[in-house]
Amino acid sequence: MSLDFSTETARDVFFDQQIARLRTRSSSKAMLRLVDTLAAIQPAALLQGDPQRWLTALAALPALCPSKVELDSARLVIGDEKDLASAEVSPLTLRAQLEEFIPWRKGPFELFGIGIDTEWRCDLKWQRLADAITPLEGRTVLDVGSGNGYYSYRMAGAGAAQVLGIDPHIPYVAQFHLLQKFLSDKPVDVLPVTLDDFPARCGAFDTVFSMGVLYHRRSPIDHLLQLKDCLTSGGELVLETLVVEGDEGYCLTPRGPYARMKGIWFLPSVPTLMAWLSKAGFTQLELIDESLTTSDEQRATSWMPYASLEDAMDPTDPSKTKEGHPAPRRVVLRGTFKD
Ligand SMILES: C[S@@+](CC[C@H](N)C(=O)[O-])C[C@H]1O[C@@H](n2cnc3c(N)ncnc32)[C@H](O)[C@@H]1O
Repeated sequence: MSLDFSTETARDVFFDQQIARLRTRSSSKAMLRLVDTLAAIQPAALLQGDPQRWLTALAALPALCPSKVELDSARLVIGDEKDLASAEVSPLTLRAQLEEFIPWRKGPFELFGIGIDTEWRCDLKWQRLADAITPLEGRTVLDVGSGNGYYSYRMAGAGAAQVLGIDPHIPYVAQFHLLQKFLSDKPVDVLPVTLDDFPARCGAFDTVFSMGVLYHRRSPIDHLLQLKDCLTSGGELVLETLVVEGDEGYCLTPRGPYARMKGIWFLPSVPTLMAWLSKAGFTQLELIDESLTTSDEQRATSWMPYASLEDAMDPTDPSKTKEGHPAPRRVVLRGTFKD
């Protein structure tokens, strides 16, 4: 189903058309119940910012048919230069159109020969977890906090039958629509909603990812319970979040920003996080990876020309953030839910 951004409203494009796509590929009762529940809501995200700006930018994109697509490579590849030449589209014009969507935080991408070097090398996180989780082949997947869908497309590239991303930040969702314009046959959709919009005991997904979201939640255990509710019995949670070093029971609650980020609530130690997961009902917990974030992975680029990790760190002590907190340390864990 190809989307027409020129005449429709933000609700049509960012919501109703995604719901329609989702409905056509949903076969399980639980998925159809989720789609019906979501179809009836008014997404709060659409009432903020300037969705019309993004509709205009999306409508201006050329109609292009990518001759190649690579969803299982570090840099997601959509088309090449020859596709532009045969459609008589100037690379400079397309580049300027892509620049309208700056800042590009998550990626990298290559669109019709134009490389988008994003703030985050998301391929590095994907590499750390891809072989350690239950293979995604044939699975129905939820990607909570999907941003522009980089990981959602990697999940499809790893064989997922269907991927639903959710993210309430419309500029990132608009980037997803830019990608989806050229990837409309892929089983990936993103909705501008949160788990608060989901029905109780949704139970529709074989794998649920929550990456980079837990520390933004004021009530992290409620977030874990909501994630659990989304899983089928036997399903897998893949959780990625910021942690601090410490014993079970320890958790940092920064009074102000953390590494220049506002809205950071809880940074548990790994044993505390394990206890939270266990308390929330997950079993077979496994720590897949623990690593310090480096400026190889997160840095300013021409596609995200604003402050990044380097600006968030103490210039005299790499073990500390600007605010004097421990430097960003991230873990990936997995856990199983059995009814
Ligand atoms: C730090 S980014 C992480 C993006 C990506 N998952 C990753 O791991 O790189 C957090 C994302 O979660 C989104 N987000 C924030 N609150 C959310 C919520 N309640 N539900 C879903 N997504 C949320 C933000 O808009 C943002 O795109």
